[in-house]
Amino acid sequence: MEKAFEYLNQYIEDGSIIGMGSGTTIEKYIPVMKDHIDRQDLSVEFLSTSLKTEKALQNLGLTVIHDAERVDAAIDGADQFTGNCLAVKGGGGSLMREKQVDYFAGRLILVAHERKKVEDFGGVEIPVEINQYLYRMTGRLLEATGAATQMRMAGGGLFVTDNGNYIVDCTYRTVDDPGELHQELVNIPGVVETGIFDRHIKEIVSFNEQGFKTYD
Ligand code: A5P
Repeated sequence: MEKAFEYLNQYIEDGSIIGMGSGTTIEKYIPVMKDHIDRQDLSVEFLSTSLKTEKALQNLGLTVIHDAERVDAAIDGADQFTGNCLAVKGGGGSLMREKQVDYFAGRLILVAHERKKVEDFGGVEIPVEINQYLYRMTGRLLEATGAATQMRMAGGGLFVTDNGNYIVDCTYRTVDDPGELHQELVNIPGVVETGIFDRHIKEIVSFNEQGFKTYD
């Protein structure tokens, strides 16, 4: 993991605006990146994909902004990925802002353990963020697409995202075309975003205990 993190540091350039993702991998990367910034004496601003990441950045004295004219690069984690740079994200519930920040970025780089690599998204839980209003009806329409659905829970109640929405985890026996599935899902009224990242990923940095490799 350390080597993969060092590799990622090349994307943190002086004067850049960096989109910073969410999840446990990114939480481990942030202090490594902070050391790099200090050592190189870089000036960098961040857009954060979650309130948790925002706090982690600010706790280290890094600058978080809430709007920008550009995002030079985004670095984020993944729940599952394929060798041809498709990913499912949102295991931590931050998919909506992740998609905004990540897709606006000039370069999107994901970092994930090699065990998260899959052939396709059949049998994979795909998070779908939905509006609270009429959520049961939205859930039924999600089921009608052929998914086994599960409302995400937390602390004895329904999980609520940073945006005040719910998440339905949808699992399909097979997913032939992730892009098509994403389109079908976002066309359902009440669906805000899906965790399918089917384009725009420049590179996936995949690590294991031995080292790391990249897919692009
Ligand atoms: C957050 O909503 C997710 O998209 C994360 O990026 C993803 O779940 C990876 O998280 P971990 O690094 O914790 O596995």
